Amino acid sequence: MSTKHQLLIHLKEGKGIWVSGEFLARKMAISRTAVWKHIRTLREEGYVIESSQKKGYLLRQSSDLLLENEIREGLNTSVFGKRGIHYFRQTDSTNNRAKLFASEGAPEGTLVVAEEQTRGRGRRGRQWFSPPGEGIYTSIILRPSISPDEAPKLTLMASVAVAESLLAMTSLAITIKWPNDVLINGRKIAGILTEISTEMDRIDYVVIGVGINVTTPRKSLPPDIEDTATSVFMETGNPFPRIALLRAYLEWLESYYEIFRTKGFEPVMKRWKSLAGIIGRHISVDLIDRVRTGEVLDVDKDGFLILREQDGTIERIISGDVTLLHK
Ligand code: BTN
Repeated sequence: MSTKHQLLIHLKEGKGIWVSGEFLARKMAISRTAVWKHIRTLREEGYVIESSQKKGYLLRQSSDLLLENEIREGLNTSVFGKRGIHYFRQTDSTNNRAKLFASEGAPEGTLVVAEEQTRGRGRRGRQWFSPPGEGIYTSIILRPSISPDEAPKLTLMASVAVAESLLAMTSLAITIKWPNDVLINGRKIAGILTEISTEMDRIDYVVIGVGINVTTPRKSLPPDIEDTATSVFMETGNPFPRIALLRAYLEWLESYYEIFRTKGFEPVMKRWKSLAGIIGRHISVDLIDRVRTGEVLDVDKDGFLILREQDGTIERIISGDVTLLHK
């Protein structure tokens, strides 16, 4: 553990009480000037620390940044976020970073987190709006022993984990839109982009990238998504701690991954269905080269959408953009 982190722990243990520079210097066997330098760095990282010649230092407020030590604090997982956490103030795309780390051999559970993405990517080559400090932009590396054609199941699993974490932390009416959009009142709050690397007929690694709009105010949404997107802040009117939501997501994701590995996909799918409410609905699905319209009969055991078209034809669809029709 770094000296800076040890110092932070001492300040946190103080719980709103002044801690003298002399005490901190003695505890960590460093000079008082070194203490001061670490305090300055912590302030740059967003910690609000008061200082007084006589009394020492007082931690008024923790940082709102998604810093490695803040993510780890109180994180109730065994593997996810317990291995490497790669934190960026800014990066092109956390999925790009994660793929690079994975190709260099990073283990399962390695996490990439960014405050801002300059080229955040969505499904179908779309952009993912990723302004600094307003959302969670994170990617995790998995190395499951499943065949590549089972990978879409992991995307559905991640959408359940995102929905569960939002449900647990807010009282909002969260739903999932097949395959992996997380919605509140019909507006998108989170999206998932899964990318895989295969070798022969086995998976080398999977990167699950998740974007959640957390503190984004309505006025900062770009015009192309202002009618379709939302954030926790827009729905509740309250500022919301991103860090707590990120931890909750990791905990849910790990627990569903464990279920998937030990009990199979069925229990995950069951929960997905109860959150999605799509069965029996009339929809149209944009499949890039064509649009299909009909009634959803089921989402099958592999996560495919089973659609009955008007002429009775049954289609099994792996991915597409769904619009609910009011029928
Ligand atoms: C979608 O709904 O189109 C998927 C959006 C996925 C966005 C996340 S943000 C973190 C990760 N990095 C990316 O570039 N994309 C995913």
